Amino acid sequence: MQQFDQPSVVAAWSDQQRVAGRRVALVPTMGALHEGHLALIACAREHADSVVVSIFVNPLQFNRADDFDRYPRPIDDDLALCAAHGVDAVYAPVAATMYPPGFETHIEPGPLADVLEGAQRPGHFRGVTTVVAKLFLATRPHVAVFGEKDFQQLTIIRRMNVDLDMGVHIVGMPTVREPDGLALSSRNRRLTPAQRAAAVCVPRSLQAVADAFGAGVTDPAVVAATGRAVVDAEPLARFEHLELVDPVSLQPVQRVVAGTVAVTAAWFDDIRLIDNRSLASAVTSVAT
Ligand code: PAJ
Repeated sequence: MQQFDQPSVVAAWSDQQRVAGRRVALVPTMGALHEGHLALIACAREHADSVVVSIFVNPLQFNRADDFDRYPRPIDDDLALCAAHGVDAVYAPVAATMYPPGFETHIEPGPLADVLEGAQRPGHFRGVTTVVAKLFLATRPHVAVFGEKDFQQLTIIRRMNVDLDMGVHIVGMPTVREPDGLALSSRNRRLTPAQRAAAVCVPRSLQAVADAFGAGVTDPAVVAATGRAVVDAEPLARFEHLELVDPVSLQPVQRVVAGTVAVTAAWFDDIRLIDNRSLASAVTSVAT
């Protein structure tokens, strides 16, 4: 497995792949790799001949310094996981390489970035679009794979890719979950055992939303309240938001329909977890 920390060097590697007729897939990550990331890597492998994983904890997208400082950085474990999963190259620049003195150019997302996560974390998506654009330009992929777990991020990146004629094939992967339904996240490893047990209220709240819709409730306020009640009943959780949005515009829906997406965030002490679920028309339920 090749390791790069300079954009010009990973670009040269990518160009070589292209010249050799190999398709290149990029999996952008912030490290602390888990089964969710590994699913993206496996998907990238299906779409391309050469897989490059980027590992960079992007300071531009953190609006809280403590969250950035505490973000896990197990780089040796990450490299071993990449090697074990057939990754061809890892691009892991340091912050001074990504944002050297004098850096001042950003990619400004549109209104898609103002709602949901963007409303809670000002500047977050501007940091994401800027770093993803830089990663695309450095690694020059044919394909890039992102998780649906970060549903708004995926939507905004698809928009950027079209708006700026980047020509990358963007692939979205379904969320990988623990057996109890909790979405895998690098932040989960900071949860205490009690918080980890409590965190199952997040996917259960989305299940409650799906059940309410499946039972015929279509008023978004009523559907959302059903989900919120599940989080409110958990003493270790602090509800932040649960919204029913249109999957394309990300705007709140007037009436819940099949395809509406429920998007939620909750806090466990200083750890913020997000999740989302696309609502189907049929009644579905999981064991609770
Ligand atoms: P990170 O949180 O490390 O996530 C990297 C990719 O893994 C994202 O596309 C994310 O949606 C996906 N992912 C995370 N948890 C997942 C899960 N449980 N199932 C499936 N996919 C999952 O998202 C970022 O990093 C950054 O914002 C980044 C795009 C790298 C830009 O800095």
